Amino acid sequence: MALLEIKGIRKSFGKVEVLKGVDFALEKGEVLVIIGSSGSGKTTLLRCLNFLEHPDEGTFLFDGEELFSATTAYSDAEIREKRLHFGLVFQQFNLFPQYTVLRNITLAPDLLEPDKKEEHLQKANQLLEKIGLTDRADAYPCQLSGGQQQRVAIARALAMEPDILCFDEPTSALDPELTGEVLKVIRSLKSSDSTMIVVTHEMAFARDVADKVIYMADGVIEEAGTPEEVFGHPKSPRLQAFLSKTE
Ligand SMILES: Nc1ncnc2c1ncn2[C@@H]1O[C@H](COP(=O)(O)OP(=O)(O)OP(=O)(O)O)[C@@H](O)[C@H]1O
Ligand SMILES: [Mg+2]
Repeated sequence: MALLEIKGIRKSFGKVEVLKGVDFALEKGEVLVIIGSSGSGKTTLLRCLNFLEHPDEGTFLFDGEELFSATTAYSDAEIREKRLHFGLVFQQFNLFPQYTVLRNITLAPDLLEPDKKEEHLQKANQLLEKIGLTDRADAYPCQLSGGQQQRVAIARALAMEPDILCFDEPTSALDPELTGEVLKVIRSLKSSDSTMIVVTHEMAFARDVADKVIYMADGVIEEAGTPEEVFGHPKSPRLQAFLSKTE
């Protein structure tokens, strides 16, 4: 059974329909990469999955059970609980500037479970080791490079132990020489069997890390398949044109 099943998601802003019926399924341990041109609805889709937008139509099933239905009004507490299934790493890192690296990572777990602070500290130190930033635990975000900040943002998301980790163009705000270190961390998560949804413009990375690729155009999934199918044998003329521009 799929870990996550998304059915018929539609979302409009005013009169503009941004998502026009999006369906996909994700298995546990799978990496789904979403590509598509600017404005095709990729960020909106991730924001819907993370309960930052309420879709107008559609449902999400998690482990076969309904997690979200657009026709249901949820309380803030319910949304907070549902959101725990997902982690989201943004393009612009969004670390808390007033807190150290370590505090950025422990803050949300401490708020959720105030009686487990010692455990969270240990976990945060393990995560810092994983992203290679143990020596920067007491630094503030402004003292780090963009690549380091993004690695901390990934650690912060992992600290909440989400079932599905989502990335929205995690390297597009970085200089090319800093992109590699962030992609390396994401690759290492794949080998530790994390389930991930990654929106990216890094086509070589997408091809390498993806189990499944979705190409979005104008609010719909125009084409989906394995990396070999989508990158090696694109069928849709729009996808062919998109790939010829990005390669
Ligand atoms: N809060 C909002 N209010 C109004 N329109 C919005 C809002 N958020 C997104 N849109 C519109 O929805 C469309 C899709 O935006 P979205 O950010 O999802 O695209 P994207 O595929 O992530 O693009 P990019 O590759 O540039 O990040 C755009 O036309 C955008 O202007
Ligand atoms: Mg976007």
